[in-house]
Amino acid sequence: MSLEHLRGATLSFSARPDDENHHGVHYFDDAVVTIDDGLIRSVLRLDQFEREGGRLEAVDDLRPGLILPGLVDLHVHSSQLDIIASYGRQLMDWLADYAFPAERAFADEAHAIDVAEQFLARLFEFGTTTAMTFTTVHAHAADAFFRAAARVDARMLGGKVLMDRNAPGDLCDADDGQAATLALIERWHGSGRLDYAVTPRFAITSSPAQLAAAGDVMARHPDVYLQTHISEHPEEIAATLALYPEASDYLDVYARHGLLTDKAIFAHGIHLSDAELERMRAAGAAVAFCPSSNLFLGSGLLDLERLEERGVLMGLGSDVGGGTHLSLLATAADGYKVAQMAGKSWHPLAALDAITRGGADALGLADRIGTLAPGSEADLVVLDAAPGTLLAQRIEAATTVAERVFAYIFLGAEHAVARTYVAGVLRHRRQPAQDRPTEVVR
Ligand code: GUN
Ligand code: ZN
Repeated sequence: MSLEHLRGATLSFSARPDDENHHGVHYFDDAVVTIDDGLIRSVLRLDQFEREGGRLEAVDDLRPGLILPGLVDLHVHSSQLDIIASYGRQLMDWLADYAFPAERAFADEAHAIDVAEQFLARLFEFGTTTAMTFTTVHAHAADAFFRAAARVDARMLGGKVLMDRNAPGDLCDADDGQAATLALIERWHGSGRLDYAVTPRFAITSSPAQLAAAGDVMARHPDVYLQTHISEHPEEIAATLALYPEASDYLDVYARHGLLTDKAIFAHGIHLSDAELERMRAAGAAVAFCPSSNLFLGSGLLDLERLEERGVLMGLGSDVGGGTHLSLLATAADGYKVAQMAGKSWHPLAALDAITRGGADALGLADRIGTLAPGSEADLVVLDAAPGTLLAQRIEAATTVAERVFAYIFLGAEHAVARTYVAGVLRHRRQPAQDRPTEVVR
């Protein structure tokens, strides 16, 4: 197997940086990333690469691009691409009016197969190489997602949605969904780079019996993930507590059914109490912060600093289609604005860490993805402003790497991702735009 060498600036993290503390930041302004059979073999400063006998003729020169680990989306719905930017509703009505009808279309297996392919291509377009994904209630939709991911050897996680009440009848499991879930785990969990996540949508759409069946699966397969929603919107919280009056709080609904484990990713968690956060920390579960969705659906403003102070694992989720962009750069920009609303500033490098190493760490996968450490899987994104864009103009004026990263976060969603590599293979390459207006038309 031949080696591949990519030259550019490189940036990755081994710990969460903040305003004062940059000890976990690994930045080279001119380096070579060497890929060997889908893995990162080394990241060497250019002079060191040459000293060790590296030949510049063999190098793919991506300067002035910035090479990063591929981005990690902790929470996204592959079934909701077509309803991004649907107007005028908050969570419970939005689900009924937009999400459920979109998911109903997946009863058609051909549609599910088409969308799975499109979804992965879109993720790569925006630099995302790992996503914890809700498909739909249809087992064939989960199969289509995993089959598409397997074809490109992507590190993906996901599952078939479990619902058996408070949803349209044709979107409900005919039984508790356990047999279908177990069959999918058998087929896909640990196959190549794929992992299964047991996926009760949220407590409102599962009966206690279905949550118990999901908990039984978790007990039988402790290395399988769990994904669900929690404490997103005040109306949802009230409805949940009414449906589960014996629970002490929202998290307790999941905990008492065996769903609070170190493999659990809880989307949103905006309104969790201190006691719930402490219980989550102690269990090693993680929160997927979904600021784009939280703003769009008017769900609330999560206090990121509070989560960090309390030691809860955290990464970012686009939560498309509640979120309005698949781009984790755009999602991080919304996260920054949410922090600002609480009078706090989220450092650009901390935000970038959250969408790379932080997300990987929340999944317990930071030894495989999320950094540029030798031996890691070669999922990479190359950021480089498309010529002629406002982003390019802003990058030109940037004087530090943090300033450049901040510009990518705020202006880069459409114009920053030049290339995406999945397991060392180039899977997305930006095409030159034909019609980018750079002059005033008179
Ligand atoms: N809660 C339950 N289902 C969903 C969903 O599809 N999107 C969001 N944002 N929240 C949910
Ligand atoms: Zn969601």
